[in-house]
Amino acid sequence: MRQIIYVSTLRHGVVPDTAGIVASARRRNAEHRLTSMLFFDGRRFLQALEGEAKAVEATFARIAADPRHHALIQLSDRRIDRREFGTEGLAYRAPLQADLAAMARMAVLAAHSGPAEQAGFASFAAPLVRAA
Ligand SMILES: Cc1cc2nc3c(=O)[nH]c(=O)nc-3n(C[C@H](O)[C@H](O)[C@H](O)COP(=O)(O)O)c2cc1C
Repeated sequence: MRQIIYVSTLRHGVVPDTAGIVASARRRNAEHRLTSMLFFDGRRFLQALEGEAKAVEATFARIAADPRHHALIQLSDRRIDRREFGTEGLAYRAPLQADLAAMARMAVLAAHSGPAEQAGFASFAAPLVRAA
């Protein structure tokens, strides 16, 4: 299996229809046996996507091409033996419901990336951790 974690930014002028994104992503992820966790802070997204490599690659390619967000930075990309981010098709976390255990695990995984990626993650996670 494969696991990808990234951060991205809502494109300027796009109304954040997170309910719509979450509903369609849940349906599609369930079809492809993908598990995922998505955080959104009102401006940026942080998502972990995992499952069979081919399904992860195809879905990630679609997500990366989605015009609703941009400046996508991949924080981690690795082979996994078992899923780490839940069993749901897509677990959605609004800002104040930050799942600190999941966030901490993403921080550990992102620690293997470069300084720019780590800065991207840190700037996303810090306000959530402070608010929790
Ligand atoms: C932040 C963000 C996260 C997304 N997460 C998923 C996801 O987990 N699974 C999924 O199938 N689509 C996800 N999407 C939607 C895809 O980008 C795409 O719109 C959807 O798969 C439909 O693609 P299609 O119109 O080419 O069929 C996400 C979009 C955004 C902006």
